[in-house]
Amino acid sequence: METVTTVAQLHAVIKEWRIAGESIAFVPTMGNLHLGHLNLVEAAKNHADRVVVSIFVNPLQFGVMEDFGSYPRTEDTDQQKLAAVQTDLVFLPSVADIYASGAMTTIVVEGLSNLYCGASRPGHFSGVATVVCKLFNMVQPDVAVFGVKDFQQLMIIRTMVMDLNIPVDIVGVETTREDNGLAMSSRNNYLTDAERITAAKLYQVLCRARTAILVGNQALKEIEVDSVFFLHKSGFHPEYFNICRSSDLKRATADDRRLVILAAAKLGNARLIDNIVFSK
Ligand code: PAJ
Repeated sequence: METVTTVAQLHAVIKEWRIAGESIAFVPTMGNLHLGHLNLVEAAKNHADRVVVSIFVNPLQFGVMEDFGSYPRTEDTDQQKLAAVQTDLVFLPSVADIYASGAMTTIVVEGLSNLYCGASRPGHFSGVATVVCKLFNMVQPDVAVFGVKDFQQLMIIRTMVMDLNIPVDIVGVETTREDNGLAMSSRNNYLTDAERITAAKLYQVLCRARTAILVGNQALKEIEVDSVFFLHKSGFHPEYFNICRSSDLKRATADDRRLVILAAAKLGNARLIDNIVFSK
């Protein structure tokens, strides 16, 4: 496995692969890698000859009061983990490599970016879309792999690629969970041992809401309110819990069949997000 830090080095490696006729799958990350990330790499290997992983904590997607400064940076162990799953190339750029001073262009996927996580994190999804577009232009992959864990992010990337004719196939990979159901996340490091046990209730309440819908409860608003109440009672500060159509993230009605329940809640120092996708 090779690690490069500049775009020029990246292009030199990619050029060789392209000359050899090899295809490229790309997994963008912010590092502090866990099994969820590594499962994206495993999936990426099934889609192309070569796998590139980027590790870049993107300042543009963090709000001023958010955890950009304290976001865990563990590049050495990240690289060991990536080598163990046969990643071909790690791209580890600096902020200056990605954002030249004087840049004037950002990408906003209108409509989707202000909902749910976008409502509580203004500018977040513009930061995500902009950096992902830039990374796509740098890596020039055939395929890029994202986690369903960040459902709204995945939908925003899919929409951006379609709207801007970006020639990259987007693959979504299901959420990797701890044994107790907690979705793996770099931000779980902010949880105490006791909070980690409580944190699993976020997935439990999603499952409970899904069961209610599948057994025929059509009072979606009531299910949402009841779930928020349960989260409060369990010690979370819920941000949102919404039953949505999985096609466009609009709020679902009783007639909609393909659904996603999106949830975000703070627990101690961690902001947790999770979702459950299903059809009825
Ligand atoms: P990061 O949070 O590091 O996540 C990188 C990728 O891993 C994303 O596609 C995310 O959905 C996926 N992922 C995280 N936890 C997962 C889990 N438990 N199971 C499956 N996949 C999981 O998401 C970002 O970084 C950034 O916003 C990024 C897209 C890199 C742009 O900066």
